Amino acid sequence: MRPTGAFPQTRMRRMRRDDFSRRLMRENVLTAADLIYPVFVHENAGREPVASMPGVERLSIDELLKVAEEALELGIPALDLFGVPDPGLKTADGAAAWREDGIIQRAVRALKARFPELGVITDVALDPYTTHGQDGLPDETGYIVNDETVAALVRQALSHAAVGADVISPSDMMDGRIGTLRNALEEAGFIHTRLLSYSAKYASSFYGPFRSAVGSAANLGKGNKYTYQMDPANSDEAIREVELDIAEGADMFMVKPGLPYLDIVYRVKHELGVPTYAYQVSGEYAMIKAAAANGWVDGQATMLESLLAFKRAGADGILTYFALEAARCLKHGA
Ligand code: PBG
Repeated sequence: MRPTGAFPQTRMRRMRRDDFSRRLMRENVLTAADLIYPVFVHENAGREPVASMPGVERLSIDELLKVAEEALELGIPALDLFGVPDPGLKTADGAAAWREDGIIQRAVRALKARFPELGVITDVALDPYTTHGQDGLPDETGYIVNDETVAALVRQALSHAAVGADVISPSDMMDGRIGTLRNALEEAGFIHTRLLSYSAKYASSFYGPFRSAVGSAANLGKGNKYTYQMDPANSDEAIREVELDIAEGADMFMVKPGLPYLDIVYRVKHELGVPTYAYQVSGEYAMIKAAAANGWVDGQATMLESLLAFKRAGADGILTYFALEAARCLKHGA
């Protein structure tokens, strides 16, 4: 126990009085190196705004390269790519996910050719590519079958590794996928490809705007992901999921969503001591943007405070749609 001097020996406000002493006792800092920028890449030309995520756009590969250049200049270590395929390419089995000339495969090639030093992360899950909007393959009852889905994810992941993705990020929550993917990558000679596992991914209502952005919302309809994503009521289960992913060979471990799940981020980092990432998801972003647009909160201050909160909880990095905006603020000394 610390000795607790009573007032007036202890006046907590002494250190808060001036900017210099506030800065000297600051325990956590946010830097551009903490940020991962998720981007949506579409098959159309130019940029298309995502209505439910003000400031976020679906990008053509040309536009993606411009964004990548700015991210690199700002010191953001990596982009995380999400594909928005032509609706005509969607099938029940999601086979467009592993096409050699698929949108993600072309985007990764273009990025690695232009900016080899920028980290490129790719999402592995079938939902943007399936007619039913599920991350995996349904049987006749609609249940998402595990092992067949994992086999499809292996094809998708190998197609990403083959074009140079640095980090493969499975967001599907199938059992055993990390171990199977790790073995498949090793066997194919991709020994450097990192796995960023969505270890503790909850069945969350905060994903709504994302599903509109990748165009899976209408396909999913009234469907849900409760048989594979985690119950928001649970915490110990998240620790078990991360432990399994450690054993199966993941390199990086993600908790998702972010702010409402900081207790999970804290537990993962402090109980397991692994590289821990948090995803500030689309609904969290949309809430801050909407409140700021109404003048109800200060958008920039709220954004930076929310990101710092992840650091305080122990996150080693944050996936956030605010990445560019936040890095610009940090650069200009916000
Ligand atoms: C699906 C996937 C989702 C997100 C990332 N990958 C949505 C879902 O599980 O339905 C959500 C990201 C966000 O909301 O920002 N594989």
